[in-house]
Amino acid sequence: MKSAKPYTQENKDRFLNELIELLKIPSISADPSYKEDVLKTAEAVKTALENAGCDKVEICETPGYPIVYGEKIIDKNLPTVLVYGHYDVQPPDPLELWDSPPFEPVIKKTKTHPDGAIFARGACDDKGQMYMHVKALEYMTSTNQLPCNVKFMIEGEEEVGSSSLGWFVKRNHEKLSNDIILISDTGMIAKDVPSITTGLRGLSYVEVEVTGPNRDLHSGLYGGAVANPINILAKMIASLHDENNHITIPGFYEKVEELTKEERAKMAEAPFSLENYKKALDIADVYGEKGYTTNERNSIRPTLDVNGIWGGYIGEGAKTVIPSKAYAKISMRLVPNQDWEEITQLFTNHFESIAPKAVKVKVTPHHGGQAYVTPIDFIGYKAAEKAYEKTFGKTPIPQRSGGSIPIVALFEKELKSKTILMGFGLDSDAIHSPNEHYGIWNYLKGIETIPQFFHFFTELKK
Ligand code: BES
Ligand code: MN
Ligand code: MN
Repeated sequence: MKSAKPYTQENKDRFLNELIELLKIPSISADPSYKEDVLKTAEAVKTALENAGCDKVEICETPGYPIVYGEKIIDKNLPTVLVYGHYDVQPPDPLELWDSPPFEPVIKKTKTHPDGAIFARGACDDKGQMYMHVKALEYMTSTNQLPCNVKFMIEGEEEVGSSSLGWFVKRNHEKLSNDIILISDTGMIAKDVPSITTGLRGLSYVEVEVTGPNRDLHSGLYGGAVANPINILAKMIASLHDENNHITIPGFYEKVEELTKEERAKMAEAPFSLENYKKALDIADVYGEKGYTTNERNSIRPTLDVNGIWGGYIGEGAKTVIPSKAYAKISMRLVPNQDWEEITQLFTNHFESIAPKAVKVKVTPHHGGQAYVTPIDFIGYKAAEKAYEKTFGKTPIPQRSGGSIPIVALFEKELKSKTILMGFGLDSDAIHSPNEHYGIWNYLKGIETIPQFFHFFTELKK
């Protein structure tokens, strides 16, 4: 496979402009008022795949947002790579913290991205990374170098739990059959430290509601005599971690995969500066489970975090009130062998059991998924390794990530195939945060590296 560098350089402006057009559509899957925009984005992805050389592209209806499917089958005897990505994005709020509007992409230079980065919601997660595959396909088809078959499956509900994709995959084993799944929806350590993501955490996401009295009360007349659900909720949440920051839910750690000393030592070899980490976040110290390093805490250990908490009076000035209800959204990141449905049940049982009689508690599960770990001693990983060696001139480091793409474990279960996670984002790209961006260098490097993966995977498969 020839280097795609000259082609990406020649077409750089067009590659950027096409991505910018895609980023202008606010495909926020979480907010029903953006429905038309989410659907419009699916159409735009369909057109892009057709233009890139896919033979058969369809918008596949589901109970939720559609899945864009495309394929180019050149020879039934050759291997098939299934590319997965998502065209939906996270809500952009808080809007006031963006330096430029989230759906009006701008290119700006930063210290990390001296060649410029595109600032927009979805720039890195995942429109920019997904679009690298579309442009890599364009390169391979237009230069007659596509070495194997390719299928695309781009969904619109990743940021809300991929439930329709689960539905779709279960019904389309034949259509989606493949030899390897390839995803760019993760990150790498640094521009000069390429890495391949070998693990994702699982997830259990729940919402809790604590109800005290049947109506909001005068906090003077009733204060002290009835349970304040916000006080109670705060206490209950605080009790979910002990003094060593271990999670106190009975059975929570029972199935947790413990890494060997050797594996932990290997992990610790990856370049990491705690000083820079703290500096980037403007924190005086890190915080977490006793006995584990920062990189272990955010990848191989399970967590429990409140994502939002509300209730009572939060308007201007002071209102003296004991609220009737308090709420919180809680996520638990899980590691291999923890079953997300079982953990959701353990949480529910425990949370109900620690509530005082003076309140009622309701736990509503949202979504979840299993963790995923990929081996490094099979040809999928080897092919990815060779691809990075070719374009970065360095052997990539295997790295387990703390994020979740719950559908990856389901792919393995349903389609019996492994996934290679070739992510080109950086932690500083601010995904899910204000001022999300994606480096132009990273974007182009991805477009160069992906065709190499196709090449080496086909070679190694022979
Ligand atoms: N692309 C991310 C996941 C990710 C990012 C993994 C960086 C590793 C490194 C994905 O879009 C995402 O945000 N997933 C959600 C879970 C989903 C069920 C909402 C997450 O991890 O919070
Ligand atoms: Mn993503
Ligand atoms: Mn995301």
